[in-house]
Amino acid sequence: MEAAEEKYTPRAVKKRRHWVAFRRLLGLFGVGLRLSGLYQRGVRNALDIKLKRIELEFENLPSEFDGFRILQLSDPHVDFLAGPFDTALELISGERVDLCVLTGDYRKRVSGPFEHILPAFEKLVARSRARNGIYAILGNHDSADMAEAFENLGIDVLINETRSLQRGEAQIHVTGTDDVHYYYTDAARVALETAPEGFKIALIHSAELADVAAGAGFSLYLAGHTHGGQVCLPGGIPIITHMSCHRRYASGLWRHGSMTGYTTTGIGVSGLPVRFNTRGEVVLITLRCC
Ligand SMILES: [Fe+2]
Repeated sequence: MEAAEEKYTPRAVKKRRHWVAFRRLLGLFGVGLRLSGLYQRGVRNALDIKLKRIELEFENLPSEFDGFRILQLSDPHVDFLAGPFDTALELISGERVDLCVLTGDYRKRVSGPFEHILPAFEKLVARSRARNGIYAILGNHDSADMAEAFENLGIDVLINETRSLQRGEAQIHVTGTDDVHYYYTDAARVALETAPEGFKIALIHSAELADVAAGAGFSLYLAGHTHGGQVCLPGGIPIITHMSCHRRYASGLWRHGSMTGYTTTGIGVSGLPVRFNTRGEVVLITLRCC
């Protein structure tokens, strides 16, 4: 699938040809930004990431997991713009969390070598203070070969599989899928539909499987991919989301049926090293019983 230059989405297989036109448009936009003097401001915006803390309440969360803390890091694209990933590491230093989750898009390009980005993740593993370790899923910029390389660093890569976490007698379940924006297969749907009963968290690079996860009884869906639009209209309204469906879930908190979702604006950027009207972030989620 990586070699095919096609997009395998939950709804159709499409050619990725639009990327040529998209890159030309990006180039023109970059020239426009430089001519208008806004380029450096956009770069400064992209470097200015924050730690966002949110608390989410669930009726079906086992009381043993009340206060469970999940750190979500997404879309670092570490080899594109130097700075945001190191800032993210500083922002999370000293934070004791239960689980760290990485929700995809680790490099700049969508193909080619990736070994040069591994030292950044080695640094993350060394600094992580997550009691239950680090789970990762792949995004549409990632190669399937990265899974083994990440696992060698001590990161547990979930490709259409589920891990269960225990506190006393209680369990919660975390299901991670392969990327569903370029590399969707029915294995992603099956992984969600066959996850154990109980409190379930889905880690999926984009929010494009919200309907499937909600139908399968997931309580929480964590996604990234969009960079919150990266270049938005005033008020944070995204112009481009790179989503084939569920575009209203492109940023922030959302609900689909009885499931809560959160789409992070992510750490890094792609295309151009700028942000406007959206801020990059690391997310610290505390689960609460209600
Ligand atoms: Fe992505």
